[in-house]
Parts: sequence; structure tokens; C-alpha cells
Amino acid sequence: MNALALLDTGWLRLAAAAAVLLSYAALCALVYRAERAKRLRAEHDAAVLSPPAHGATPVLVAFASQTGFAEQLAWQSARLLHTAGVPVKVVPLGALTLDELTRTEHALFIVSTYGEGDAPDNGARFAQQVMVADAKLPQLHHAVLALGDSSYAHFCGFGRRLDAWLQARGAAALFERIELDNEAAAALTAWQHQVSRLAATTDLPDWQAPAFDDWQLVERRVLNAGSVGAPVCHLTLAPATGTLPAWEAGDLVQVCAPGDPARPREYTIASLPADGRVHLLVRQERHADGSLGCASGWLTAQVSIGEPVWLRLRPHSSFRIGDNAARPLVLIGNGTGFAGMRSHLKARAAMAQRPPVWLLFGERQSAHDRYFGDEIDGWLAQGVLAHADLVFSRDQAERIYVQHRLLERAQRLREWVAEGAAIYVCGSLDGMAAGVDAALAHVLGAHELALLCDAGRYRRDVY
Ligand SMILES: Cc1cc2nc3c(=O)[nH]c(=O)nc-3n(C[C@H](O)[C@H](O)[C@H](O)COP(=O)(O)OP(=O)(O)OC[C@H]3O[C@@H](n4cnc5c(N)ncnc54)[C@H](O)[C@@H]3O)c2cc1C
Ligand SMILES: Cc1cc2nc3c(=O)[nH]c(=O)nc-3n(C[C@H](O)[C@H](O)[C@H](O)COP(=O)(O)O)c2cc1C
Repeated sequence: MNALALLDTGWLRLAAAAAVLLSYAALCALVYRAERAKRLRAEHDAAVLSPPAHGATPVLVAFASQTGFAEQLAWQSARLLHTAGVPVKVVPLGALTLDELTRTEHALFIVSTYGEGDAPDNGARFAQQVMVADAKLPQLHHAVLALGDSSYAHFCGFGRRLDAWLQARGAAALFERIELDNEAAAALTAWQHQVSRLAATTDLPDWQAPAFDDWQLVERRVLNAGSVGAPVCHLTLAPATGTLPAWEAGDLVQVCAPGDPARPREYTIASLPADGRVHLLVRQERHADGSLGCASGWLTAQVSIGEPVWLRLRPHSSFRIGDNAARPLVLIGNGTGFAGMRSHLKARAAMAQRPPVWLLFGERQSAHDRYFGDEIDGWLAQGVLAHADLVFSRDQAERIYVQHRLLERAQRLREWVAEGAAIYVCGSLDGMAAGVDAALAHVLGAHELALLCDAGRYRRDVY
């Protein structure tokens, strides 16, 4: 090679290195700006809603929410009261103690129902420890907005149980419990009007759920051809017009399928805004009669590339990184649960100073279900992942799942938790989430696990 060519190669290398450095600096600046904006927003919300100095007792707004809707309505209710000059305090139900409740005169409870009539995770401690107490609450005036879905057997089960418990303890209802079936506009308006009445304001516009927008399906590929499991598709979507909205790792989309536009279905986002698209992992559901699942069937087999998809983003604050950003992460999941794990891993990969991540992921057969294997190998090579435990249940005669691997790794789990790790679980509610919960309780102790949950260090996106 002559001297000129050597010089050229040298310059090229230098230019490439400078480009890498510049794009890295730009990424750091973006992350810093986003984090700063988030912190300022949170500080602003807290300051705006803090009780006035003269010491009037605030109205308590307590929420229990799994996917964020009850939490969103709690903040809307609190802002309405605050705007009308009523001091207000917003708390997750799990953080509310009996002591505080016995000192509260006015409280609004906005709670959804999960599992089979159960409390969401951030209300579980209250349900297990406070709602068993035989306290007296004669000073309390309360109202309950119960969120649920009437296709479940225990419609609004937790909201009903909470209301009955409060009334049995002597609390007086400010108005009758309101039950919100999905997002039925009439119940939402009724709640808003009651809260407006408490705030003595009447001239506020009706709350509206965020609108669904037109998006387009850009790409669809099957990730698990030949698998014994139902097809899992990797879908890529972009807004039909306008710019890409912002979201964070852990957030969801809701999709309205043409067959059932009144009941949108949730899907966990598998990408970050930096990817330029919303990515989803959708498992094709098939009913016993052979027909396709309404939304998953449409998304995986019917809607064509370029066709519109009616979609909106939903912040999922209980599955976001929140104040766990500086902690090691244990990501546990299976199947399409990889979506939430992928967005969190992408977020970690983009961090300058990144605490380690341990991935435990379960599927059926390594030959067909090792999706995103290249990405996992890349994260291992870059040091984003400290460990990747991929567990394939059908690769051997004996069925092995992530919860079994977790038990085998008990010592490592205890060490990671002692180092301050947060645990995120994403995927099937049946089987996986309950098995993982039992394994975690076995290794760490049920009390320690409840403390982790209260501290926001055990978070779940399970369905
Ligand atoms: C927080 C959250 C995150 C989620 N994330 C994801 C994700 O990332 N990926 C993913 O694939 N899914 C995800 N889901 C699940 C998803 O929202 C849908 O529930 C799933 O795709 C099934 O919807 P569907 O409309 O295809 O099925 P549906 O048609 O609603 O059927 C669902 C079930 O209802 C019953 N059923 C309904 N109609 C009939 C009928 N005619 N005959 C017999 N049985 C019937 C059956 O039990 C069936 O299995 C998530 C759910 C939640 C709550
Ligand atoms: C896995 C799962 C289980 C649910 N179980 C119930 C139930 O037993 N009863 C009910 O009324 N609603 C049930 N729902 C519906 C939720 O309560 C409803 O979607 C609510 O709006 C969610 O509010 P959130 O976003 O604040 O958690 C369930 C939803 C999911 C995804």
C-alpha cells in the first residue's frame, strides 16, 4: 500500500471514529434532555398539587392501577380539584397506611381489578394488610371509581370489595360507587361530574380519553416459523401522518381491531422512539372453534402492509424504569413478553453508565423460538447483558421453565437483589407470572418480595 493510500485509510478511520463519537455525544445529550424534562415534569406535578401552607387537610386521591388507566384518571381528578382550589394528595393505594386513612376525612379511590377479581400489584399490600384490619373509619367520606371489564367473571371485583370494606368500617359514601366498564364514556362523565361537584366547579369540559390515531403497518414477519406454539409476529408501525410521538421503555399501545372497536387490546411496545417505529410482538390467538383471535388474528394475518391501524400509546408507569434507572435489572419473561424486555434492554444499551442486566427468557424450542437471538448475542458481547438464561421447555423430555432456572440460580438472585437490583416480569399471567412469583418468594422470602414490590423494585407487565 503506498503512502497516499495509508493516509486515506488513516483519515477514514479518524473520520469514522469522530462520527461515532459525535453520534454518541448527541445520544447522551438526547438522553440527558429527556431525563431532565421528565424530572422537571414530575417536580412540577408534585409542586402544583402540594397542599397549601395554611394546613388545610388535603383530599386524598388513592389509585391502584396495573396498566396505568386508573392512575391517569387519579391525576385528572386531582388536577380538577386542585384547579378549583381544593388541596389534594395523590398516592398509590399500596403506599397508604391504616394510620393515614384513620386521619383522612375525604378520599377518592380509583382502582382497577386484575387476575380474577384481585387488586392490581400496587394495591396488593393494602388489600392483604390493611383491608383485613378491623379499623373504625367514621371520620372518612369516600368515593370509589371502580375500573373493570364486564367480560370478566368478577366485574370490578376489587373496587366493590374496597367500597364494601370502607362502608363496613363506618366510612360514608360521598356518592354511589361508579363502575367503569372498559372506557364507557357515560360512567367517566358521571365520575367527572361528581368530582366537579365536590370541587364546586361546573364549567369544565368533559374529560376525553386520548384519541386513537391512524398508523400504518410497515412490516410484518413471523418470528417462529415451524414452532409448535402459535405464530408470533414482529410488527412495525409508523404514524400515517405527522411525527412519531414520544414513549418510554415499558409503555403499551392499544389497538382497535375492526371486529371489536369498542374493546381495544393492549400490546407492549418492543422498541424505543430512537428506532423510529413502534415495534410489537403479537402472538396469533386461535379460539377453540378454530376462528382467529379478534385483534391478534387481524394484526397477524389480515391487515395488509400499508393499511391503516387505529392505535394509541398508553404510558405504563408501573412498568417503566422510573427510579430504577441506576439499579441492576433482572428481566424475566416468556413468549411475547420479550417485547417489554427488548425495550428495556435497548434503553440500557443507550446509557453511558449502565448497570448490569440479567435476562431470563423462556420459550418452547430453541430451533424455532430463539427469536432476537442475534440481538441477545450482541448485548452479551457489548456487556449490556451480564447473563442471558434462555430456557426452552421442549428441548428435553422434562419441561423446564424460567421459574425453574430462577430456583437453580437462587444464590445469584440473592446477590443481585442485595446489590440493589430491580426485577421486571413480562409475559404470560397464567403459568409463568405465578410460577416466577412463587420462585421469587421461595428464594427471597415472601416478606422481602412484598417490600420490593412496595419499593417499586418488583414490577410486572403480565397478561
Ligand atoms: C398489559 C397487556 C400487555 C399485553 N401485551 C401483549 C403483547 O405484547 N403481545 C401479545 O401478543 N399480546 C399481548 N397482550 C394480550 C392482548 O392484549 C390480547 O389479549 C391478545 O392478543 C388476544 O386478543 P384477541 O383479540 O386476539 O383475542 P380474543 O378474540 O379477545 O380472544 C381472547 C380469548 O377470549 C376467548 N374468546 C373470545 N372470543 C371467543 C370465541 N368466539 N370463541 C371462543 N373463545 C373466545 C378465548 O378464551 C380467547 O382465547 C397484552 C395484554 C395486556 C393486558
Ligand atoms: C389479565 C387481566 C385481568 C383482568 N381481570 C379483571 C377482572 O377480574 N375483573 C374486571 O372487572 N376487570 C378485569 N380486568 C380489566 C381491567 O380492570 C381494566 O382493563 C381496567 O381498565 C384496567 O385499568 P388499569 O390500566 O388502571 O390497570 C382485567 C384485565 C387484565 C388485562
